[in-house]
Amino acid sequence: MKLRILCLALVLLAVEANAAKPAKNTTIPSLIVFGDSIMDTGNNNNLPTMLKCNFPPYGKDYPGGLATGRFSDGRVPSDLIAEKLGLAKTLPAYMNKNLKPEDLLKGITFASGGTGYDPLTAKIMKVISVWDQLTYFKQYIATIKKHFGEEKAQNILDNSFFVVVSSSNDLAHTYLAQSFSYSRTSYANFLADSAVKFVRELHKLGAKKIGVFSAVPVGCVPLQRTVFGGIFTRGCNQPLNNMAKQFNARLSPALDALDKELDGVILYIDVYDTLYDMIQHPKKYGFEVADRGCCGTGALSISYMCNSLHPFTCSNSSSYIFWDSYHPTERAYQVIVDSLLEKYLSKLV
Ligand SMILES: *[C@@H]1O[C@H](CO)[C@@H](O)[C@H](O)[C@H]1NC(C)=O
Ligand SMILES: *[C@@H]1O[C@H](CO)[C@@H](O)[C@H](O)[C@H]1NC(C)=O
Repeated sequence: MKLRILCLALVLLAVEANAAKPAKNTTIPSLIVFGDSIMDTGNNNNLPTMLKCNFPPYGKDYPGGLATGRFSDGRVPSDLIAEKLGLAKTLPAYMNKNLKPEDLLKGITFASGGTGYDPLTAKIMKVISVWDQLTYFKQYIATIKKHFGEEKAQNILDNSFFVVVSSSNDLAHTYLAQSFSYSRTSYANFLADSAVKFVRELHKLGAKKIGVFSAVPVGCVPLQRTVFGGIFTRGCNQPLNNMAKQFNARLSPALDALDKELDGVILYIDVYDTLYDMIQHPKKYGFEVADRGCCGTGALSISYMCNSLHPFTCSNSSSYIFWDSYHPTERAYQVIVDSLLEKYLSKLV
């Protein structure tokens, strides 16, 4: 209901903006996404990496129960945001070889599970770095130009919503390999500066409406609780959460400054507080379980450890915040996306 009212408000806003500035286009023609497993809809499927999940029980709640390579029981935020924007129910993965040119028009995700802002992250995991995702984006725009013309490509650049989601893998995994070169604070700062550099590059390539997700409370994912949270308490890994907060504290004002400097809209999208509150108060959001994943043992399993031979997948993933020991369920993602779009979508048009 709320969303409908929001949409109506957006339409009215759009009409008003149009009246004032007739040249500006206020419809969002497509959604273009960069980042990691939170946004990957199958880009890792054909890569020589261990980090893939195109097998059951992944996809258990996806239409047809298909394991598409999404790191969840169902759809992921790139799909859910595309749906909120009225574009499509699912967002295609750029690496899908069966895509036809028309399939590119409503948007695309270049995101690759396991990647990060630190180039070392993608190298260790043998996945696509966010920097290489920019190269694929150039290729994508060239394809749009070739098949649909300059004007269409320009409209996509000017008016699409560009979303960037990364940092969890850098913070949770790569830092351990980088801790001789960086303190926790300096590594978090290095990542935030990399995110800003990424936005500048993307803007140089023509993107105008860019939203960057904050880091999440990655110290509270079931895997971190199991390894670092104490055998009996399984609490959140606080030093890791603090690094995530440090990243956010540096990123947020830097993006505000960039928003003033560059033409277009640059948004810092806070997801930390919403997810943290969900994990601390799962019942408030209609969840039963916040400290274990639904699939595998729920404590350590991810990717290949979470497979159809494992007997313990929960029956109702909607009552869990986490699907595996690292990734949220579709329902948890839906709660987050709903809360975000109320806050941020009106700023795009
Ligand atoms: C505005 O967007 C519509 C729909 O994507 C497109 O057909 C039209 O050419 C765009 N107009 C301008 C001025 O960009
Ligand atoms: C699954 O869990 C959700 C959230 O707790 C609940 O609303 C729903 O009724 C449950 N479904 C079944 C079939 O038990």
